[in-house]
Amino acid sequence: MANLLSGKAVSAKALGSVATQTAELVASGGSQPTLAVILVGEDPASQIYVRNKHRACEQVGFHSLEFKLPVHAGQAALLSRVEELNANASVHGVLCQMPLPKGYDYDESAVQRAISPGKDVDAFHPYNTGLLSLGMPQFLPCTPMGVMELLRDAAIPLAGKEVVVLGRSNIVGKPMALLALAADATVTICHSRTKALAQITRRADVLIVAVGKPRFVTADMVQEGAVVVDVGVNRLSDGKVCGDVDFDTVAEKAAWITPVPGGCGPMTIAMLMQNTLRAAKLAQGDA
Ligand code: GUN
Repeated sequence: MANLLSGKAVSAKALGSVATQTAELVASGGSQPTLAVILVGEDPASQIYVRNKHRACEQVGFHSLEFKLPVHAGQAALLSRVEELNANASVHGVLCQMPLPKGYDYDESAVQRAISPGKDVDAFHPYNTGLLSLGMPQFLPCTPMGVMELLRDAAIPLAGKEVVVLGRSNIVGKPMALLALAADATVTICHSRTKALAQITRRADVLIVAVGKPRFVTADMVQEGAVVVDVGVNRLSDGKVCGDVDFDTVAEKAAWITPVPGGCGPMTIAMLMQNTLRAAKLAQGDA
């Protein structure tokens, strides 16, 4: 039976460290880190994510601001809110919860490009993705950064390892591959058009899965003793949440595995807090 990579435990440590650093920053006369979150529409999953981000802000001693726009607010209103937050020096981090409502002509990419790169705590702006691809990042995207932190905490080195990333999204798959590469892994990215997928995934010393398909990775796709990281969050018809990995059977074969929930999810939010603290320190010339 595999060891658990517990996002609950590791995120609690990370949040504790952010809380300590925040208290020190404020005690030394710095301003309280402030995160502004924009939510367009009323998607229930997005509402939960936004609420969790605010709770994490409270936990680490940040100020958090929430801006709710109605589903029909429109791209122009959204961009003008972003501009206002860019210009507000007391706001250090700005993010717009994705996805934006479908069928209303929102342009997610334009919103990501509108956020000031120095306040871009999601690290979705092309300036920040460009720096990451050059191996000189300013902010790291939260989910891949959380995966790296989970591996680091378990003392699982990536140098020289075969890392296989399943999924090529801009939010997870691509930046995940870049981070593993920066850590000197040999990296393969697989996606929906990959042939002989199981042959490739079985080579992986570390298999990182972000495909958005419930229990897609089965035990026959995994090497004995592999490290399996499941980024997926899928809601089943019975309301339960499961990952992209068939946990029960894969855990028999893997050496390490992340649970869902309680694996990558809490790490993503903890890394968002780290990025916001970093943005606040950068703005105050303290990083
Ligand atoms: N939607 C899913 N993941 C994310 C994320 O990391 N940031 C934002 N802003 N929206 C998301």
